[in-house]
Amino acid sequence: MTTAREGQELTQVGPGTAMGELMRQYWIPAALSSELERDAAPVRLMLLGEKLIAFRDSGGRVGVMDHRCPRRCASLFLGRNEGGGIRCIYHGWKFDVAGNCVEMPSVPPPQDFKQKVKAKAYRAERVFAVPATEIAIARIGRPFPNAVMLGGLAAFTRIVSLDAVSAAVRERFESEVAERNVAAAREAYKFVEREFGREVLRAAPD
Ligand code: FES
Repeated sequence: MTTAREGQELTQVGPGTAMGELMRQYWIPAALSSELERDAAPVRLMLLGEKLIAFRDSGGRVGVMDHRCPRRCASLFLGRNEGGGIRCIYHGWKFDVAGNCVEMPSVPPPQDFKQKVKAKAYRAERVFAVPATEIAIARIGRPFPNAVMLGGLAAFTRIVSLDAVSAAVRERFESEVAERNVAAAREAYKFVEREFGREVLRAAPD
């Protein structure tokens, strides 16, 4: 039986915790890409205990960042997504998808120090273009192989079957790479089946 302390260590995933640091080494599914429209209002996310926002900028890039503005912690969820970044509604500082402060209108130009300001941001990517399952992924640390991640994710969410994952992989990659990725996705499915039972996979439609 685990002690209270061990239980805490195993279940806490916030920044600075043991499990949190481990899990931040891998890709994290964040949102359906279709939820994020260019220059539309940001969406709220909660990943590993962190309150984040996600948005798609004017150029189509996805940003995933801490919802608190680095200046006075106003929520960037209330910000305006415009002209290639998210603008905080408190003092108007604007941040690009990488968290760089790109405009600081409340500070006179001679005292502008935007190059020193950075919001906490995670890298985000769209992984696959399976119909209705385009997924934006926040990458935190070392990348987890896409196919393995997507295979596991698909099994868990029942969004898409292994056949559909395999077809998308084959469409996207050259044959040798595709087959390696298909094999990895198949392993992910097997892992999910073994660990969580076959019924988890049953409802996955093509
Ligand atoms: S709190 Fe965001 S710019 Fe002031």
